Amino acid sequence: MIYFDNAATTLKKPDEVIQAVIKGLNLLGNAGRGSNSVSLSTARAIYDARVNISSFFGIGDASRLAFTSNSTEALNIAIKGVFNSGDHIITTVLEHNSVLRPLYEIEKNNISVTYIEADKYGNPLYDDIEGHIRENTRAIICTHSSNLTGNLVDIEKIGNICKKHNLLFILDASQTAGTFPIDVKKNNIDILCFTGHKSLYGPQGTGGIYVGHNVNIRPFKSGGTGIATYSHTQPKEMPTLLEAGTLNGHGIVGLSAGIDFIKKIGIDNIREHEQKLLELIYNELSKLEGITIYGDFSSFNRSPIFTFNIKDYDSGDISQELLDTYGIVCRSGGHCAPLMHQSLGTVGQGAVRFSFSYFNTVDEIKYAISALKTISEL
Ligand code: ALA
Repeated sequence: MIYFDNAATTLKKPDEVIQAVIKGLNLLGNAGRGSNSVSLSTARAIYDARVNISSFFGIGDASRLAFTSNSTEALNIAIKGVFNSGDHIITTVLEHNSVLRPLYEIEKNNISVTYIEADKYGNPLYDDIEGHIRENTRAIICTHSSNLTGNLVDIEKIGNICKKHNLLFILDASQTAGTFPIDVKKNNIDILCFTGHKSLYGPQGTGGIYVGHNVNIRPFKSGGTGIATYSHTQPKEMPTLLEAGTLNGHGIVGLSAGIDFIKKIGIDNIREHEQKLLELIYNELSKLEGITIYGDFSSFNRSPIFTFNIKDYDSGDISQELLDTYGIVCRSGGHCAPLMHQSLGTVGQGAVRFSFSYFNTVDEIKYAISALKTISEL
């Protein structure tokens, strides 16, 4: 099997991640629920992971990072925990449903949202953003990279607009954390939402939310914290504010090992390898007649995502053929990105998406090129 669905989840995990999870399964107790050695060593392991992951994102105060089960949970915490009736938010049509659906929900509570359109390559119309800022605009929320096209969003530009207009900048880094350097200070990010199981190479069920000191946020859930048992309300201090219930300690130590793996290989080396694969497939297949490639390939400084259609075939049929005849696993259909599909005009057909990881090889790409050449001649 050749696995090209790494934007959905990385299938191959580094050995150190697997070992960390196995060790955790053997040793971890419940952090913060006792002064016995197992509970204390677990609290220490989670603290170490929190510091490791924080420093990876330039977060100075690790207590501002709360663990979540994925970026969807982090985004729900942010979108449902920060805004109030009367607020206005700016976002883009590049967003995933993990941003769009919580926004659609809060729109029912007298909160308004502007969706910035994209150009024909799928890039947000940056020049439109400032014209949409109103007196009641509180935030810009956007993805760092479209999960459909792989186009990168210029977070420096958006961070600067937020700074200039005193808006919160909420970034969905689901597709970029671990591939592109992210620094919450340098990039003016007030809330960072990320998942652990994609390009951070951690286990599923891991992720996090960074919340800057300047942000007031309501907890999404409340419950046991191991402290202030007799209080009726969730403790206000981060990260406990956002961490009711037993943490996924086994996953968190795995996620921290994923970060160690990225640091060992080097984030730039990982990205360069993936972009080399992307360049190879794009250069070969963009010459083919009958293939439509989506996204902006004016530079390969983009997520390692190659999305296409062949003639007017349904994208699901092409991915089934790739699987059945060639053993290539990829994703097709809507990719939870409805507005991006509307913008590209691909709602009916969907699109076929290949997404690469550090573990994909040049030989796999060459094989896929040859498979697609054959399919496109059918
Ligand atoms: N959001 C994931 C994807 O793009 C699941 O496939």
